[in-house]
Amino acid sequence: MDRTLVLEYTRVTEAAAIAASTMIGRGDRNGADAAAVKAMRDAFERVAARGTIVIGEGERDEAPMLYIGEKVGPSDPTLPEVDIAVDPLEGTNLCANGLPGSITVLAVTDRGLLLNAPDCYMMKIACGPEGRGKISLSKSPRDNLYTLAAAKGRRPDELTVVVLDRPRHENLVAELREAGARIHLITDGDVAPVVATCIPKSGIDMVYGIGGAPEGVLGAAAIHCMGGEFVGKLVFRSDDERKRAIAMGHKDPDRVFGVEDLVRGDVLFVATGVTGGPLLKGVRRIGDRMHLQSLALRSKTGTIRWVDTSVDAHRFLHEH
Ligand code: FBP
Repeated sequence: MDRTLVLEYTRVTEAAAIAASTMIGRGDRNGADAAAVKAMRDAFERVAARGTIVIGEGERDEAPMLYIGEKVGPSDPTLPEVDIAVDPLEGTNLCANGLPGSITVLAVTDRGLLLNAPDCYMMKIACGPEGRGKISLSKSPRDNLYTLAAAKGRRPDELTVVVLDRPRHENLVAELREAGARIHLITDGDVAPVVATCIPKSGIDMVYGIGGAPEGVLGAAAIHCMGGEFVGKLVFRSDDERKRAIAMGHKDPDRVFGVEDLVRGDVLFVATGVTGGPLLKGVRRIGDRMHLQSLALRSKTGTIRWVDTSVDAHRFLHEH
């Protein structure tokens, strides 16, 4: 894949972040999401690649834009074809309530290299490169914590584990605390902390628990770029969900996925902060300018780019 696309796609998450930022704290999660979706879709038109959405806002009948299978970008047949996973606003509640940690995010590969994740849950464990090949869903949370601590040369009580604050995680949290972990509970948005496990200065060592499966693939794409570890397994709330996964081509819906089962090949991953959090600064309006921060990753070289952007607010909002 052409490496210059990484900057082109950064413009896409930036555009979505600026649009979402106009909705921060307004209590309107659907409105915030809709603003990000529209801006992202429009911005794809300015990227020199023909994209197919493989992970998006849902299926065609439930999402007017950025639905699974939608073609985005110019239709010029000479342009390269890519598959794209998007979450135009990850952490819609966080944005609507003005809380930290919402981002706009996407991952891009050559065709056919991203798992078609069904819209169900996924049990996930993510950590940085030290845990590569060492953590496992068949081990207990305590064992995984101890293993990662040993691999990092730290004590278990020096590790911070992010867990979504949900009743389904009560036992998990109790077990991890008992083993000594510092638990960082979040109300929403588990993609950013998964990415953050590979960024030492984030202070996040591990993400553990059940969140969205599409978000799992996005997180795994970033982990793939940075050489960390991610294991996941689909979790179904009903027989219908399981049947839908099988119909989508998941012959063994109970299999455990490693990073390479979720995403392969040359991958670009980009995220821009909307409301500031441990991974990324949020969109800040200072005078006539808007300041943004993005993270842009490329698996082929392992390059990690922090992109600080400042745009003329009036021009941006009128020209886009
Ligand atoms: P949205 O941005 O679509 O609101 O998703 C936020 C999120 O918190 C994800 O980060 C997470 O994977 C999932 O929802 C958890 O789902 P649930 O809220 O049902 O526990």
